Amino acid sequence: MCLAGMGPAPADGIRGSCAVKVPFTWKPTGWFMVGWSADIAPGTTKPMYYFGQHLVAYRTHEGVLHILDAHCRHLGAHLGHGGKVNGDCIECPYHGWGWGSDGENKYIPYEDRPNVSQQLKSWTVDERHECIFMWHDPFNGPPRWELPDIWTVIPHLPSSADDYYPAYPQLSVKYEKEPVHPQITLENAPDSVHFKYVHDATVDPVLIDWKADGPFYTSIAGWPLPNAKSPDGMAMKINGISCGVGGSFAIFEGSVHYRLVFFTTPIDDETSDMFYSIWWPRDAGDTSDEVPAAYRERAKTQFLTTLRDDLEIWRYQIYIETPAFAQQDARPYGALRKWAKQFYEVEPTQASTSG
Ligand code: FES
Ligand SMILES: [Fe+2]
Repeated sequence: MCLAGMGPAPADGIRGSCAVKVPFTWKPTGWFMVGWSADIAPGTTKPMYYFGQHLVAYRTHEGVLHILDAHCRHLGAHLGHGGKVNGDCIECPYHGWGWGSDGENKYIPYEDRPNVSQQLKSWTVDERHECIFMWHDPFNGPPRWELPDIWTVIPHLPSSADDYYPAYPQLSVKYEKEPVHPQITLENAPDSVHFKYVHDATVDPVLIDWKADGPFYTSIAGWPLPNAKSPDGMAMKINGISCGVGGSFAIFEGSVHYRLVFFTTPIDDETSDMFYSIWWPRDAGDTSDEVPAAYRERAKTQFLTTLRDDLEIWRYQIYIETPAFAQQDARPYGALRKWAKQFYEVEPTQASTSG
C-alpha cells in the first residue's frame, strides 16, 4: 500500500493554533528533500513550491533531473504548468521559449537567436536513495558539503541498496503543510526519553553518544536488554545522522535493522512538507521489488507511525529558547542547538565547510 501523500489530518482539524514562532529563519542553508525520484518520469515536469519560491522540476528523456525557477522570463508563464521537455531544455507553454538546465535562454522559436541576457536560477539537485534532494542557500552559494551515503555512512554496518526492498512508494509517507520547523524534528535525536512517552517504547532508551561534526550531528540511542549484565548490552540501537537541519538518516542495528530517511522542507515561513521513507531488509534470495505484505503491514502499523506520533506533539508545541532542561538533556540538546546555528543566514565565507 502506498502511504505517500496520505498524511492524515488531526482529529480536530486544527494543525497548531498558529505558526510556531522560532528565533531563526525558515530559509536555512543546506540539502532539503523535495520529492521521490519515481514521481517525475523521463520527459515530464512537476511544479513545486519551497522556501516561498515557485519552482519547476523536469526530467530529460535521458533521465537527468533539473530544477529551475518556475516563471518564464519572457512574460511570466509557469513552466511547470504545460511546459514541455525538449532535449536538455524545458519549453515554455506560452510562446515556446526554451530554457536550458543551466537556466539560460537557449532558443526563441520565432527569432534567430536566444536572449542570452535572460536567465532562470538553476537549483543544484542530488538524486540518491530514490529521493530528490535540492541545495538551498539564501545567498545562492554552491553546495558546501555532500550528503552521506545511507548504505556506507556507518562504517561497521556496510550495506547496499540491493540488500533492501525499495522504499518508495510502499514504505514511504509524506505529510504536507505541517506547522513544523525542520530544527524541531531534529531535536528528537538527543531526546531518548520521548520514545517511552510518545512512541510507547517498553524500555527506557538511553542516549549512548552524540557529536556535532561540521554539517553533521550524529547520535546513538540504545534500547537496553531487559536483563543485561553490562550497561553495554543493547537489544537495539539507532544510529542517527542529521545532515544540516534539512533532515536525517537513521540506521537501526540489532533486533530490527531497517534504515530510514526523514527530511523536513519549508514551504514558506510557517509550514513544511515532511518526507519519510523506510528501507526494509530483503529476505534472502528475494529479488522482487514488491515488499512482502507482512513487512508492509508491520512497517505501516509499527514504524511509519512514529512520525504521526511525533506530529501530535510538534503541531502544537511552542519553541522555548531557554528550556528547563532535565540534567541529562542539557549537553546534547545544547550542542544540537549550537550546531544548528551554522545553517541560518550565515555568509558563505563564514560557514562551516568541514565534513
Ligand atoms: S511567457 Fe514564456 S515564452 Fe512567453
Ligand atoms: Fe520521535
